[in-house]
Amino acid sequence: MRHLIEPADFSDAETLAVLNLADRISVNPSAYAHVADGKVLATLFYEPSTRTRLSFESATLHLGGRTLGFSGAEQSSATKGETVADTARVVSCYADIIAMRHPKEGAPLLASRYAAIPVINAGDGGHNHPSQTLIDLMTIRQRKGRLDHLTVGFCGDLKFGRTVHSLVNRLVRYPGNHFCFISPEELRVPGYVIEDTLVPSSATFEEVTNLEENLPKLDVLYMTRVQKERFFNEEDYLRLKGIYTLDAEKMKLLQPDTPVLHPLPRVDEIAMEIDQDPRAAYFTQVQNGLYIRMALIMTLLGLADPVTGEKVLTC
Ligand code: NCD
Repeated sequence: MRHLIEPADFSDAETLAVLNLADRISVNPSAYAHVADGKVLATLFYEPSTRTRLSFESATLHLGGRTLGFSGAEQSSATKGETVADTARVVSCYADIIAMRHPKEGAPLLASRYAAIPVINAGDGGHNHPSQTLIDLMTIRQRKGRLDHLTVGFCGDLKFGRTVHSLVNRLVRYPGNHFCFISPEELRVPGYVIEDTLVPSSATFEEVTNLEENLPKLDVLYMTRVQKERFFNEEDYLRLKGIYTLDAEKMKLLQPDTPVLHPLPRVDEIAMEIDQDPRAAYFTQVQNGLYIRMALIMTLLGLADPVTGEKVLTC
């Protein structure tokens, strides 16, 4: 049985196969309407979510399956002291696959050790968010036609932004990529991402604080929100929030074919005035999220593509 807890759980070939399956679903979604008839997805969300939970549920419904679950730890037996391990065992009796979000790093990994069904990490603390990474890769490939030889700017909260950590983990695997990490001193990329992911790879990177100066050279711009819920004190959050804002004036500094990605939700780091700019790709990411999660559920349930007859995972 396979799980998706961190991006590296899928090989490069498997990652590409999921992206290709999502592309096929996106052009002909109705061909997949009964692929998961009778299957049940459980969403165990111990942390707030709009897109991730609803898109996993929508993906299951679009495949013909059904969903159950909770959103908010207060709705679950966690309030009575039940462990993640026990919850995973219990839910394995009710469902065929689990999508779990948890404020503690490593909770979905623990769940995967006790569950009898596949577990997808839908975000664990400030650590990883591997299904968002698949969405980001799909969107970058659509916009740029490739995943290699790109200068990718990551801007905002690079310390707590789990989507950044997971995307960097995948992009280092393609040749010629360069990362420009744009953040205040306090929100720099964690040391473990630098030591374990960046240094051993062939990718190059720089850490800077100024957004405007670095915009012209970027092939992709990935904006992030300052992660309020992960700060230890309100004062630090208030000082750092709003530190970067992308507006129409700054968009003039970006190349005409440089997409702007953001995992959403946004707070004030992208002005609404640029939503109509063709380079704004964040609502495309939301749409791609449905196709990626349909592809991911099919993959982990071992369901064959009805169009090609192929399965993504062979072991
Ligand atoms: C992100 C997350 O939860 O990490 N949102 C998402 O899943 N699309 C980003 C965020 O919350 O800022």
